[in-house]
Amino acid sequence: MTALLKFRPPVIGHRGASAYAPENTMASFTKAAQLGVKWIEFDVMLSSDDEPIIFHDELLDRTTNGCHEVDRFCSAYLRTLDAGAWFDARFSGERIPSLQQVLEFIDNTRLSVNIELKPLPGQERKLALRILKEMKSYLVQAKTTILFSSFSVEALQTLREHAPDCLMGLLLHEWEPDWQALSISLQCVSVHVNHEIMTREAAHKIKALQKALLCYTVNQPLRALELYSWGVDAVFSDAPDKIMRVL
Ligand code: G3P
Ligand code: MG
Repeated sequence: MTALLKFRPPVIGHRGASAYAPENTMASFTKAAQLGVKWIEFDVMLSSDDEPIIFHDELLDRTTNGCHEVDRFCSAYLRTLDAGAWFDARFSGERIPSLQQVLEFIDNTRLSVNIELKPLPGQERKLALRILKEMKSYLVQAKTTILFSSFSVEALQTLREHAPDCLMGLLLHEWEPDWQALSISLQCVSVHVNHEIMTREAAHKIKALQKALLCYTVNQPLRALELYSWGVDAVFSDAPDKIMRVL
């Protein structure tokens, strides 16, 4: 399965190219494509009317002109918010994208995507099912260019139950005691690890399981080179161009 995943260049645009444009917006994804990455990562949550939206935080406050929890609001309202001005006035008018919008974009640009499921507590199954419904036709055509991931084991279990062939990665912020068993039982093709906890030994362990190994979020080129030397297949970066420059 791992052989199906190709990371060339070995850099994934984190939330697009979020050092240069507001994270998880079309401007950020467009910038990542312009920089020459082949993979982008983005986060998916649900609006109150169960529309999958591209968003990272539980609260609207940091990255939009709205406030309070995202899931209090319907998609029509969320679409009216400004998701760019907080980053720079040049981006005012950027919107929170829908999953559908990003799917059309990747269809046109031929980018590969890592879709991170970020369920709020209690939404794990619903988010996974809603995303699968939206992506039904894409999953048939583009099996090796769509990689799902989540910190939520329940969300991954739901994906696996309903999409036995989909490519999935287990996300680890800390070393969970059962991470190896989980990655095997969920049939994950990859493990996505916080680079701050990565060691040479851990990297070898993951590669011995025949899984792709991805590390987030790496913005220092020297750290990326060290991780590659340990067998890391790709790093998530806010500034993918900086990493690509030293390859
Ligand atoms: O998927 C890698 C990385 O995005 C996970 O952490 O918080 O940036 O979504 P976060
Ligand atoms: Mg993410």
